[in-house]
Amino acid sequence: MQPFLPSTFFCLAAGLSFMNYLAVAEIVTCSGLVPMRYRNDKIAITDFGGIGDGMTLNTKAFQEAIYRIEHLKRRGGTLLYIPPGVYLTESFNLTSHMTLYLAKYAVIKATKDTRHWPLIAPLPSYGRGRERPGGRYMSFIHGDGLHDVVITGENGTIDGQGDVWWNMWRQRTLQFTRPNLIEFMNSRSIIISNVIFKNSPFWNIHPVYCSNVVIRYVTILAPSDSPNTDGIDPDSSSHVCIEDSFISAGDDLVAVKSGWDEYGIAYGRPSHDITIRRITGSSPFAGIAVGSETSGGVENVLAENINLYNMGVGIHLKTNIGRGGVIQNITISDVYMENARQGIKIAGDVGDHPDGNFNPNALPVVKEVTIKNVWGEKVLQPGLIHGLKDAPFTGICLSNINLPGAIRPRNSPWQCSDVSGAAVQVSPWPCSELTSNHQTGACSRSF
Ligand SMILES: *[C@@H]1O[C@H](CO)[C@@H](O)[C@H](O)[C@H]1NC(C)=O
Ligand SMILES: *[C@@H]1O[C@H](CO)[C@@H](O)[C@H](O)[C@H]1NC(C)=O
Ligand SMILES: *[C@@H]1O[C@H](CO)[C@@H](O)[C@H](O)[C@H]1NC(C)=O
Repeated sequence: MQPFLPSTFFCLAAGLSFMNYLAVAEIVTCSGLVPMRYRNDKIAITDFGGIGDGMTLNTKAFQEAIYRIEHLKRRGGTLLYIPPGVYLTESFNLTSHMTLYLAKYAVIKATKDTRHWPLIAPLPSYGRGRERPGGRYMSFIHGDGLHDVVITGENGTIDGQGDVWWNMWRQRTLQFTRPNLIEFMNSRSIIISNVIFKNSPFWNIHPVYCSNVVIRYVTILAPSDSPNTDGIDPDSSSHVCIEDSFISAGDDLVAVKSGWDEYGIAYGRPSHDITIRRITGSSPFAGIAVGSETSGGVENVLAENINLYNMGVGIHLKTNIGRGGVIQNITISDVYMENARQGIKIAGDVGDHPDGNFNPNALPVVKEVTIKNVWGEKVLQPGLIHGLKDAPFTGICLSNINLPGAIRPRNSPWQCSDVSGAAVQVSPWPCSELTSNHQTGACSRSF
């Protein structure tokens, strides 16, 4: 009688194969970058007179609750609970050591009355508002100089009611640049997770001059015709990790930026060490973008496992003369796109200038860009790479890319100029500027 032998054997075998399974299926996440904080001290917006009836203006309640967190400092910070209900408010500032927690069915809703919307200074790296000269409207939810801030909950909603702003843009009655839905400036250790962002007036989530920012499990929704409603724009920021999110918006889903022409060059703050993974979305513009404002430089970007549907351009690296800035060590891999105008675009003639003072000799540098494992269906044009005559793009490496055209039987061809690098297993075949042989060294590191 040896009943234990088989079961011991079974456990051992199962244990081994389970470990193998873990090794194979291990999912890399952002969770180590910024630790999630548990807050002992909890307050609710309703303790400060907040009324979630969708009509009462709760600006004072938000200000007082956050004033209380800022001045009555509790060990480990404070959680501000937003119960189910619709809390209308004007824009407000967050503070350090806080968690803004939205319950299921909690909505923080921006007022449509834009007359008293606060103005703040332009970003030094932009020199002016992005769309209008001068200052810019403060983001709906704003944080400047903060650390240890969490925005999370049970997928409650932050609603920008952007249509009033989109209409001002359409009617050309905007006085200043529209507000972002959420902006963190000069901040670090930020987590944004399990929140739905809806109808942003302008860009949705804008970390600028920040480090250690995690954005995960978010849903970002804006109509496809809403102007400039970018999903997430890490800007002159480092160690930003964006993952497991759904974004359907009117402009680029994720665009890594770093300032605008002479202002961005003078400010000189790059974006670097940016991870973007497991993003699904849809947009008439780009899925994964770098640019076009890249004057401080963009380095060490990894984007992987991206699924794009009904797109303008799947992958878009964009810059311009006058931008300056070095875009390098960009890796984009495992991208599926369905129904896109263009698969891949890397171009040096995209975007406008802040004013006439940009330096036409400030040429951008684009090098060491690897794009691999890209599959597409119904992609009208597979790709375009246009470097600059006086600053060709180098080390552009494409591998295992299959972007069959929507128009059969003939695929429209790739277009290339002023570029060098390599292409391996790319269909349709890109262009003679890219060698099929990567022994040249141009791409050896990347494959
Ligand atoms: C919010 O922050 C902005 C930018 O830091 C500042 O200009 C403004 O005065 C703050 N508003 C309030 C009500 O504290
Ligand atoms: C919230 O949404 C995320 C992302 O879609 C999802 O993974 C999570 O399960 C949802 N959580 C709740 C509490 O509904
Ligand atoms: C390039 O970027 C990756 C992140 O995608 C990073 O791990 C790597 O260290 C970078 N390489 C260099 C030479 O900086």
